[in-house]
Order: sequence, then structure tokens, then C-alpha cells
Amino acid sequence: MLRYIGVVAILLLSGCGTQKHHVDLNGEKLTQEKCAKCHNLDMPPKTSDKELAPPLYTVTVHLKDWMTVNNPSELRGKFIEFVKSYVISPDRSKSYCNKKSLDTYGVMPSQKGNVSEDELEAIAHHIFDTYDQMKMLEILQEKAKIDALPPAQQVLATKDCKMCHIAAAGKIAPSFAQIGKKYAKEGIAPIKEAILHGSKGKWPQYTIPMRTYTDLTPKQLDGIAHFILTCECEHNRTK
Ligand code: HEC
Ligand code: HEC
Repeated sequence: MLRYIGVVAILLLSGCGTQKHHVDLNGEKLTQEKCAKCHNLDMPPKTSDKELAPPLYTVTVHLKDWMTVNNPSELRGKFIEFVKSYVISPDRSKSYCNKKSLDTYGVMPSQKGNVSEDELEAIAHHIFDTYDQMKMLEILQEKAKIDALPPAQQVLATKDCKMCHIAAAGKIAPSFAQIGKKYAKEGIAPIKEAILHGSKGKWPQYTIPMRTYTDLTPKQLDGIAHFILTCECEHNRTK
């Protein structure tokens, strides 16, 4: 009984069920589900000849630039209202898009029935927060930093290898040094093979399998395989 009261108290405190509008809607997921069919969601945006609509980055940044507000703090509210209204009842006269691209793409088809008002609100907040010129600049700078690294370091900076092979080496996965030692005679080929196709059962003391990594460039794959083989990862030897 006491436990039951506890649960009820928690529900009351968190206001569950009383404020319908504050149900946690995942704006990112909803944008993927409801808008990605036509709008590219990447940052930096990807464009193509066959695209059905301009990328959402372009749309959002453009709207932020073109909307006139008396005070910058009003921009979010105005943006949210516009998106909520446009997506349900798009109209050439409301559009901030230049007329030439309106002709190219055609006016957006109404999404009435595909997305609820609450969902649209969550989506609008998400895209307002996500697509931003300063954020884009940071992403590009971060990317330039990573591109300047040697290929093996690029992999370590962008993939999760460290989590198992360095931080938890010996506990949930063999260390890179152990793997390098094992393939000292064979060279990088079997190491590349494991990264491309995954690995399981070769080290029976570790129970989890390793997944595949198929999106590395050939240079990155050679680089990380060489890194593992030569045990440049000296710090692993002690583990
Ligand atoms: C069926 C394809 C399609 C879907 C789905 C779609 N859009 Fe669009 N959208 C377009 C096209 C085409 C344009 C460009 C023409 C225009 O502005 O009307 C556009 C333009 C826009 C604009 C710019 C408005 C302006 O000023 O002209 C916004 C904002 C927008 N979409 C938001 C969304 C959101 C948010 C979603 C998801 C809920 C979404 N769209 C889903 C096709 C789509
Ligand atoms: C979730 C933990 C995990 C992550 C993340 C992970 N691995 Fe592994 N890796 C393992 C385990 C466990 C094995 C041993 C599998 C086995 O027994 O065959 C393994 C095996 C390998 C092998 C082959 C060993 C052999 O004997 O053939 C290589 C090479 C390797 N990992 C490289 C990498 C690289 C490079 C990355 C990042 C791109 C990475 N791993 C990410 C857990 C992980």
C-alpha cells in the first residue's frame, strides 16, 4: 500500500496526465518522420537535382533572416506560429521563399492530417534550435579540425572504438596492442576484414561481438588498421 501511495505521489508531483500539452514529444524524431520525405535534414545540408523541397537548414535560416521582429526575443514565437500555419495551410502569398524557387518546387502540399498541432509545435521548436548559422559554423570548424588529423586519428575521433578497445580493453574487448601482436605476421588485411565485416568468437573470453564499420574511407581503414598493427597505441600495452 505504501509503495502504491508513493507511485501516486510521484505521478501527481510530475503532473502526469494533467497537462496534456506538455507530453514530451520528440521534435527530432517527428521531424524525421513527418518532414524528411521531402526536406533534407542534414547539417551541412545535402542538395540534389531530384529533391522535392529545399533542405530544412536552408528553409529555417532563410526564415530567420527574413522575418521582421521588433525585438530578437520575439523571433522564436513568430517562427513557431509561421511554421504551424504554413505546414497546414501553405500559400504562395504567405511564403518567404523567393518566387523562382516556389516555381521550381511548387507550393508545399498541405500536411493537414499528417501531423497534429502539438507535433508541429515540437517540430518547429526543434528546427528553430537545430538549424542555425552559428551552429553550422561550429560544425564546419569541427569537421575541418578532424579532416586535418591523420586517418587513424580521424577514426578514433569519430567512431566509438576507444570505448571498448582502449577504455575497457581487457574487460570487454581485446586491446589494440593484443590485436596488433596477433596479426604481426599477417599484416593489416585481417584487421581490415574485421572492421569491415565485424568479428565474433575469435576472442572467446569476450562475449560481445564487434559490429561492422562500413562507412570509413579506404584511407581511414588502412590508417586505423596500420595503427592497430604497429601498436602506435603504446598506452594499451600496460592494460
Ligand atoms: C510532400 C513534400 C513535403 C513535406 C512532407 C513537407 N514539406 Fe515543407 N516544403 C515542401 C516544398 C516543396 C517547399 C517549397 C515551396 C514552399 O515554400 O511552399 C516547402 C517549404 C517549406 C517551408 C518554407 C515556407 C516558405 O516560406 O515558403 C517550411 C517552413 C516547411 N516547408 C516546413 C515543413 C515541415 C516542418 C514539414 C514537416 C512537418 C514539411 N515542411 C513537410 C514540401 C514538403
Ligand atoms: C562495443 C565494443 C566494441 C567497439 C565499439 C569496437 N570493437 Fe572491435 N572488437 C570488440 C570485441 C568484443 C572484439 C572481439 C570479437 C571476437 O571475439 O571476435 C573486437 C574485435 C576487433 C578486431 C578483430 C580482432 C581479431 O582478432 O580479428 C578489430 C581489428 C577491431 N575490433 C577493431 C575495432 C575498431 C577499429 C573499432 C572502431 C572503428 C572497433 N573495433 C570498435 C568490441 C568492440
